[in-house]
Amino acid sequence: MRFLCTIILVLGVWYTPQAQLPELTDEQAKQIEELLDDMTTEEKIGQLTLFTSDWDVTGPTLRGNYKEDILAGKVGAIFNAHTADYNRELQRMSVEETRLGIPLLFGYDVIHGYKTIFPISLGESASWDLEAIEESAQVAAAEAAAAGLHWTFAPMVDISRDPRWGRISEGAGEDPYLGSRIAEARVRGFQGDDLAATNTLIACAKHFAAYGAAQAGRDYHTVDMSERVLRHDFLPPFKAALDAGVQSFMTAFNELFGVPASGSHYLLTEILRDEWGFNGFVVTDYTSINEMIPHGVVADEKEAGELALTAGVDMDMQGAVFYNHLRQSLKEGKVTEAQIDQAVMRILRVKMLLGLFDDPYRYSDVQRQEETILAEAHLEKAREVARKSMVLLKNNGVLPLSKSGQKIALIGPLADSQADLLGSWHAAGSAEDAITLKTALEDMLAPSSTLLHARGCEVEGEDRSGFPEALAAARQADVAVLAVGENWWMSGEAASRSELDLPGVQLELIKAIKETGTPVVVVLMNGRPLAIPEVDETADAILETWFAGTMGGPAIADIILGDANPSGRLPVTFPRNVGQVPLYYSMKNTGRPMEPNNKYTTKYLDVPNTPLYPFGYGLGYTTFEYGEPSASAETFSEKNPVEFSVKVRNTGDRAGRETVQFYVRDLVGSVTRPVLQLKGFRQIDLEPGETKTVTFTLTTDDVAFYRRDMSYGWEPGDFELFVGPNAQDLQSVRVELTSNKKSNP
Ligand code: GLC
Repeated sequence: MRFLCTIILVLGVWYTPQAQLPELTDEQAKQIEELLDDMTTEEKIGQLTLFTSDWDVTGPTLRGNYKEDILAGKVGAIFNAHTADYNRELQRMSVEETRLGIPLLFGYDVIHGYKTIFPISLGESASWDLEAIEESAQVAAAEAAAAGLHWTFAPMVDISRDPRWGRISEGAGEDPYLGSRIAEARVRGFQGDDLAATNTLIACAKHFAAYGAAQAGRDYHTVDMSERVLRHDFLPPFKAALDAGVQSFMTAFNELFGVPASGSHYLLTEILRDEWGFNGFVVTDYTSINEMIPHGVVADEKEAGELALTAGVDMDMQGAVFYNHLRQSLKEGKVTEAQIDQAVMRILRVKMLLGLFDDPYRYSDVQRQEETILAEAHLEKAREVARKSMVLLKNNGVLPLSKSGQKIALIGPLADSQADLLGSWHAAGSAEDAITLKTALEDMLAPSSTLLHARGCEVEGEDRSGFPEALAAARQADVAVLAVGENWWMSGEAASRSELDLPGVQLELIKAIKETGTPVVVVLMNGRPLAIPEVDETADAILETWFAGTMGGPAIADIILGDANPSGRLPVTFPRNVGQVPLYYSMKNTGRPMEPNNKYTTKYLDVPNTPLYPFGYGLGYTTFEYGEPSASAETFSEKNPVEFSVKVRNTGDRAGRETVQFYVRDLVGSVTRPVLQLKGFRQIDLEPGETKTVTFTLTTDDVAFYRRDMSYGWEPGDFELFVGPNAQDLQSVRVELTSNKKSNP
């Protein structure tokens, strides 16, 4: 009996079932139309106004007394207010003490967990596990919705190829295909299939658009790109979020094509509404309407409000521009009642879908909050997702460590830091709930093992006074585990870095420990790709753990002690130095592709073009072997897709998970095409010695692009299909796309 290997058919384009897009019943639509008819202009403008509570702001607070505004019906949504009883009281004021009793909408930045904090989004993305990512968002929604919240300002779907930009930590990395699949998973996880359920939230695709392309990686900086790059690389995850049913979009701070996103009719109406058919609402980012004055496209706030509303903005976050000026703009005919009504209806529609008109207090149940927050199942899920997010970058065999009979020196400023485990945007997460690596090792090591602990140094600064104690510990130990990296606040918003190295004297500490002769395991905690070639040369093993969340310590210990086999893969390229940036796998070939022995080809004098670690890269405690890939035919066409298969075998002695990646190159196009584009991936679990065949199906949809005349479609010609464990170690087969007629119009 021939050993049957499992055939896995993977559609090249990931077909998520078209989300059951939420829609109002006729009765519900009639109810909000009648409500709109009853509203005064002031009350309408109130619905377009979002203010922060004074409890926990994410930026400078323009207003201190939102409660008066609620009672006057002059604010329709509040953010940064949470917990069941606090929000119930605010809701009571709006429902029982205003003329029309319109319920408030409560929003918050629940990015990677509400109270049970999961790995930062870039870390979660490194799992490539869409089910796990969806489950993470489900847990976040369940906890947030139990704490009085209706709306999260997530997923952040900004593609970024510049690790200097601190907000690369909040997204899904550099690739539009992976970023799109993850955007879908996060929207599904937050919104579920019933927005009125008390364990779901409405989600918000942000920051529309191209915020991740800020020049020089400097936050809030100018964004300037061609429309083709915008549509190929930066828009797809937003469209994926929309197709998954996302109910709100948030505008970006940056300009695009010379117009700030919050004033861009092209983005907010021509693309979002006319081309994509979005029926949710658009909220601006924090005071970004006001910021169109320093951008230099309007003279004053009143003009900024008129530009924003006309462009397609529905709700003004914290700027109080609609609140202060829209009445006058209406009087002057600079905006119309119809424009205001349209924005109001989009917001009332979502409040209706959330069930707030039926029961405005449905999300403020103290009992449910107690039962849901930090539930054991949530903590276990957070630990599982954290394990899956970790990427083994190097291992000369020193990992996994034994739990027993080992003397381990745990060193470094992040070995016992609860706060840093939570990462940026940790919502209501509390550092005291986080379990550090030190605590986890103390708990998990057998009594026959010894754990020595020394801080060694801080993350930043030149203080080396802790080195002697660290070196002494290392000299006594069988192995040194160094927990180093960045502080949590060195990534996230307003946290760009001009360097990508390990801050402070951490690298010196690693080298000094290595010189003791004790093997060194580096555990990285960081919010961005770091340029760490010397760490790679020095360490015996390197585990990328990002900021792994409330259960980060146990998850790291699970891996380094061998209870779990690392399976994470990089969602973003790690450069050798900051001078290579932007460096990403799907770059163009240029007319002078690099030739080592030809000076006059595209390269540097002082560093190779290749990254330190490529996109899709990651090791495990077992090894996988790829067979020869094969295509089902030499040609394919619009009606006849081609199947591309490869056998993958576990050649090690441990079960493991491999993420088989499928890339495509269009060899000749009417415009230049990237040397590689991810078009599919499949995670397979293999027992030692087991083989599985993975098959990808390539269709003409997968190879469509914006051609020389900016029409969208495919072109016949030769394609190279690649498969492998990352964007560098690939095998390929060539096929031809034939057409009896060009798809060009
Ligand atoms: C911030 C961020 C945005 C966040 C918002 C509300 O400035 O840019 O991502 O959702 O304000 O906190």
